[in-house]
Amino acid sequence: MTAAILGSTTSSIAIFTVVLIAIGWVVYGIFNVVAGRREVGSELELAANRKEYYDDETLEGPRLERVQLFGVLLLALIVVALPAYWVFEPSRQAGAQEGWDKRFASWGSQLFAPTAEGGFNCAGCHGGMAATGGAAPFTVTDDLTGEVTAVDWKAPALNTVYYRFDEDEVRFILNYGRPFSPMSPWGLVGGGPMNTQQIDNLLEYLKSIQIPREDCAPGEAESEYFGEQLCESGVLPTSLQEDIAASIDAAVASGEAASVGEAIFNLELGSGAYSCARCHTQGWSYDDPGKTGQGAYGWNLTGGSTNSHFNAESDMIDFIKSGSEFGKVYGNQGQGSGRMPGFGAMLTDEQIEAVVDYVRSL
Ligand code: HEC
Ligand code: HEC
Repeated sequence: MTAAILGSTTSSIAIFTVVLIAIGWVVYGIFNVVAGRREVGSELELAANRKEYYDDETLEGPRLERVQLFGVLLLALIVVALPAYWVFEPSRQAGAQEGWDKRFASWGSQLFAPTAEGGFNCAGCHGGMAATGGAAPFTVTDDLTGEVTAVDWKAPALNTVYYRFDEDEVRFILNYGRPFSPMSPWGLVGGGPMNTQQIDNLLEYLKSIQIPREDCAPGEAESEYFGEQLCESGVLPTSLQEDIAASIDAAVASGEAASVGEAIFNLELGSGAYSCARCHTQGWSYDDPGKTGQGAYGWNLTGGSTNSHFNAESDMIDFIKSGSEFGKVYGNQGQGSGRMPGFGAMLTDEQIEAVVDYVRSL
């Protein structure tokens, strides 16, 4: 309907323009013929190159000065305008960059939106547009019995995802999904529906919803638009860290967890964003956990300090802080894939030491 109206307006404008041009040509033609009549026989006087020009007095007098003054003014304009252009160019570029960041993020938000709003429903599983964590209906099949069970699979909060992963790692997750979980591949390379631009837009949207950091160094942010969201040096807001510490303390006090390390490993802190068990304990995400740390998407961590890639505890602490990096070696003959998140920006040093103690006791 709209297209039809649009189409008919466009063609009416086109027809109107054509008619206008045709009338214009006719009028021009008439004037030309009339003016041409007058000229017949008077070519000698009317020819441009036969007209007398200014004499030397006029040419080298005020007229020359006017032309020279004009030249000086133009020169002055260039002298002022070029440096001004040079001075303003960086901020113009920054502004342009910010404009694109905003556009990408807003296109990304349309992709992130629930199905009813025309999006791909990331919001539906991940806890709304702010992605504070949710759950996804899924079915798991028992390998031995073949029994199929309907479950709710916890989907982690994404408003801290850039605290755990860098941009390339998040891109990998979006492109290839999390195999054997409700998180399907979204990128064309992984067999999903989205092209590179759409994945980029989602990455920008996720940046825009990150919980802003505290204590960013000045000018460190990737762009003005993302401000404190993405700087490297910043940490989570104190209030949030206090909330997490309080949940851990409460769990230890109530006996739900025997130690701080166990609480971090097993509990659903920050909608599971902090949990190790969601990747290292099979079934944790759908409330049917197997042996703690038995391995799932992430490796088997049982066997404690003897059966691992880390002889030295300090190496393991460093690894948990920074996470794995694609191709980078770690510990004792380990090589990262970039899929293990870094917790240095989300957990305090003491909390990381506590969880490492716990892992080494498994
Ligand atoms: C059907 C539900 C569902 C949909 C739709 C969905 N996800 Fe997920 N997503 C999940 C689940 C569940 C996980 C956690 C999987 C696991 O346990 O490893 C996850 C994991 C992730 C992660 C990794 C987070 C982390 O810390 O490990 C990112 C990033 C992510 N999703 C982004 C998205 C984006 C962007 C979209 C939309 C294109 C999306 N998801 C759509 C269910 C979903
Ligand atoms: C998003 C999934 C995920 C989460 C969450 C996660 N891990 Fe991992 N982890 C992995 C993967 C995958 C590996 C394998 C290394 C790789 O692929 O780079 C790994 C490797 C490890 C290793 C090295 C094992 C070895 O011997 O090589 C340790 C130790 C570890 N994780 C501990 C933790 C702890 C402690 C936490 C919680 C604070 C945690 N992980 C949270 C996915 C995860």
